[in-house]
Amino acid sequence: ESGQVFDTNAMTLTRFVLQEQRKFKHATGDLSQLLNCIQTAIKAIASAVRKAGIAKLHGIAGDINVQGEEVKKLDVLANELFINMLKSSYTTCLMVSEENENIIEVEVERQGKYVVCFDPLDGSSNIDCLVSIGSIFSIYRRQTSEGAPTLDDSLQPGNKIVAAGYALYGSATAVVLSLGAGVNGFTYDPAIGEFILTDPNMSVPEKGKIYSINEGYASDWDAGVYNYIAAKKDPAKGKPYGARYVGSMVADVHRTIKYGGIFIYPATKSAPSGKLRLMYECNPMAFLMTQAGGLASDGRIDILDIVPKKIHERSPIFLGSKKDVEEALSYVQAKQ
Ligand code: AHG
Ligand code: MN
Ligand code: MN
Ligand code: MN
Repeated sequence: ESGQVFDTNAMTLTRFVLQEQRKFKHATGDLSQLLNCIQTAIKAIASAVRKAGIAKLHGIAGDINVQGEEVKKLDVLANELFINMLKSSYTTCLMVSEENENIIEVEVERQGKYVVCFDPLDGSSNIDCLVSIGSIFSIYRRQTSEGAPTLDDSLQPGNKIVAAGYALYGSATAVVLSLGAGVNGFTYDPAIGEFILTDPNMSVPEKGKIYSINEGYASDWDAGVYNYIAAKKDPAKGKPYGARYVGSMVADVHRTIKYGGIFIYPATKSAPSGKLRLMYECNPMAFLMTQAGGLASDGRIDILDIVPKKIHERSPIFLGSKKDVEEALSYVQAKQ
């Protein structure tokens, strides 16, 4: 009701996860436990992000990661939080993190049936200038039945994802989650320390008016991408689109789900597989976008159908409103 000052029956993320679990009569509660431990990691990262400037958490941690990137202090902190909270959920056996060169195996006494691939802090280049950053995760069931998990357990295609989501540390702290039956958005309420359901059943508009790509690399794009972006700016081809590019994938994808449009990180001559990593950026975002009624392609096939070969492999990505991605693909796949 209007003017209600305190909701005594708020639909929290914790409640929502338990409610969803009830729909699966054989559910053991492991996935609920796992998601609630991920929620704890996200709350802790949000707290660290929001006081990083004061707690001297800005700046670099002093080493270079497997991606060849300067690791930021918050990258390290976020990674440790994810690893510790996932291990102590007793529901995972294997993890893939952007910040770890090899798979992370969970010791036998704490193993469970899930595999989690995550980007603990996405948009690291935006930390020190206070632009929105995020965390991204995707959850699979292990394929091997017992014994030590294998690399195969970590190299599953996105169409095997059980659940995926992201946290956005923006003007508000939000969590967007899909368990395979639609997408729901939650906003953090610091007054009670819980995420509240604010965006039930999110669905991406069929067509948008925004394109999102780093135009600094235009000279490096394939002709298809170049011609598509030129068409988006050409009044002779219809009302030109607006341009929005945050440089944090989580922020650019969240805007695309909410407002519609297209997000592209294409292949370039210098990066023939693009920059974004398949296992913990492209796949979870493709799962969420698809669940929200959008599309996600590498320019040839659906992102979710790519069979991974290496845990840090990269993929080009065209993601967003169905009609916008289809139009972009018509340029990219046109005979040059
Ligand atoms: P991360 O900070 O986890 O390494 O990811 C950064 C990614 C992604 O967030 C964003 O879309 C992309 O890098 C931006 O890359 P450019 O600066 O090359 O545009
Ligand atoms: Mn990085
Ligand atoms: Mn990232
Ligand atoms: Mn990252």
